[in-house]
Amino acid sequence: MAVLKAETVLVTGANRGIGLELVKQLSNSECPPAHIFATYLYSNSAQELQKLADEQSVVKMLELDVTDSASIQKAVETVEASLGTTGLNLVINNAGINSDATLETLTADNLMAVYRTNVVGPLLVSKAFLPCLKKAAHALHLEGMSCNKAAIVNITSIVGSIKLGQKNFSRAPMYPYRLSKAALNMATVCLSEDLKQNQILCTAIHPGWVQTDMGGNEAPLSVADSVSSILRVLASLSQSETGKFLDWEGKEIDW
Ligand SMILES: NC(=O)c1ccc[n+]([C@@H]2O[C@H](COP(=O)([O-])OP(=O)(O)OC[C@H]3O[C@@H](n4cnc5c(N)ncnc54)[C@H](OP(=O)(O)O)[C@@H]3O)[C@@H](O)[C@H]2O)c1
Repeated sequence: MAVLKAETVLVTGANRGIGLELVKQLSNSECPPAHIFATYLYSNSAQELQKLADEQSVVKMLELDVTDSASIQKAVETVEASLGTTGLNLVINNAGINSDATLETLTADNLMAVYRTNVVGPLLVSKAFLPCLKKAAHALHLEGMSCNKAAIVNITSIVGSIKLGQKNFSRAPMYPYRLSKAALNMATVCLSEDLKQNQILCTAIHPGWVQTDMGGNEAPLSVADSVSSILRVLASLSQSETGKFLDWEGKEIDW
């Protein structure tokens, strides 16, 4: 089985849920990265991440609001200063928000707030870290594309699938969230096309319905199981999966 061997990884929204578990499992893996930049939005809700960073020296905490360009720029400068000439192998755009708004309750404000966090955020984070990703892609003379070399992984959702929208709509209309994840999926395709020339892989991953604050207690998948499976999938990605929409087990999902 392939093992993820990326040396430098950045995970957004890493103070809880899927992001925190990604950092936990990466730092405890067979081949832990040398640097895991684990971003948080507010220090007062990052105690568990702080504890992990105190125990694992590879975990570096980084303040980052994906909706704030100045905050993104500051994070890039901190990562560049910390890595020096080394590039960044893997950016996991995990931070996201939900909104249960139905047709009756949606407003311009809740639509825009979710779009800003779930679409504008990952796209601007990816754009800002591109020089670091390009450096990594250039430095490593590895064949083909992979998460060990240079990659952007967007954590999306199956509810953003247009093809499957009619099947899964009635249980959870969630207009702002669905629209945002459909747009994030398109951003993944655009990035994958643009960045092929730079050997940077870009893939959208649906983590399953997971027991987190967002997923709730009814969710069938534990965060540990979802993340261990996602990490196995990331280890196996190659150029054939760039621009694809996969689930936590690596199965392709219809756009
Ligand atoms: N759980 C599921 O069933 C499920 C299913 C499909 C897809 N997903 C996707 O998986 C990802 C992680 O979800 P989760 O279940 O772990 O959610 P979660 O427990 O609600 O955690 C969301 C994370 O995103 C961070 N965040 C929110 N807004 C941010 C911003 N502006 N800048 C930086 N960070 C921000 C949060 O920070 P704070 O703690 O400071 O708020 C938190 O760390 C999301 O993209 C979500 O859409 C989840």
